[in-house]
Amino acid sequence: SKAPMRVAVTGAAGQIGYSLLFRIASGEMLGKDQPVILQLLDLPQAQKAVQGVMMELDDCAFPLLAGMVATDDPNVAFKDADVCLLVGARPRGPGMERADLLTANGAIFTVQGKAIAENAKEDVKVLVVGNPCNTNAYIARSAAIKVGRTNPNNYHGMLRLDHNRALTQLAQKSGRPVSSLKQLVVWGNHSPSMYADYRFVTSNGDSVKNIINDAAWNNDVFLPTVGKRGAAIIDARGLSSAASAANAAIDHIRDWHLGSSEWVTMGIPAPADNGYGIPEGLVFGFPCECKNGTFTLIKGLEIDDYAKSKIAITLKELEDERAAVASML
Ligand code: NAI
Repeated sequence: SKAPMRVAVTGAAGQIGYSLLFRIASGEMLGKDQPVILQLLDLPQAQKAVQGVMMELDDCAFPLLAGMVATDDPNVAFKDADVCLLVGARPRGPGMERADLLTANGAIFTVQGKAIAENAKEDVKVLVVGNPCNTNAYIARSAAIKVGRTNPNNYHGMLRLDHNRALTQLAQKSGRPVSSLKQLVVWGNHSPSMYADYRFVTSNGDSVKNIINDAAWNNDVFLPTVGKRGAAIIDARGLSSAASAANAAIDHIRDWHLGSSEWVTMGIPAPADNGYGIPEGLVFGFPCECKNGTFTLIKGLEIDDYAKSKIAITLKELEDERAAVASML
């Protein structure tokens, strides 16, 4: 049998953690033959709640769950980690400005990026879920690069929830099953500025754009529905998306680790020669292919004038976020 993989999860006592941990322990993320050790990080005041979650994990008697650690120390949580899911973040409080939010999270992700680089496996895969996730990933990566050791390409932000949200909207509008849809891309920031781009999407070889055949729907319905979905969930549920966010994190890491036959959207540090005009290192939603435990940017897609204008908007937002945290890095 395989040696266990170590999965660190931050914000383990939170709502996403409560959906995420059980699915990781059941083998849905790394494979049904892959034992896992969960290394759970949360704040000191949340340690009792983490113990409660661990009691429930025990009570599932998961065959693949080979061990658990609970801690409030990032150096312990990230020790020898193969995968780090950075879910815990500072939420936006009442009256908090966007700049304050970026700075509060800057402090958290600087510490965690450094601790990952000093403690985790050299080929650790890191996925930031906690918002603002692209810029938090950029901060963690910047701190990790100062230490060296880990692969700077492996600090990702989560765009997969936007990708999955867009897939279902397209399936419902086109009448085609979600499983038949290929070649969706969500460009940019995990925020309402993201550009969900279905120009390339096919279903059994047919262009979904042609099936939908409704130019106004893209701007009037599709992009606002996907972009404002998080707010719509909060409005309906009284709580933010948690199970769907956990599901997207599982999808992102599963595809990265085990491969995917389809394009997937990943928030990755822009490669120097990306060809889409995104500054190197900015964590940006791009189309990727996953094989043999690695991901590759899909290059050379046509960017028409409309796509260019949409990408420019989400890029500008990310550049502004980067400028707001620059002094901390
Ligand atoms: P939550 O508030 O239920 O849980 C957050 C947990 O993180 C709490 O247990 C808290 O004690 C912990 N925490 C806070 N600071 C920490 C730190 N420095 N180190 C370790 N743990 C820390 O929040 P929820 O609903 O689980 O969401 C977590 C994050 O995920 C939020 O930032 C939310 O905005 C983000 N999110 C991202 C999505 C995406 O698509 N990228 C989708 C949905 C949520």
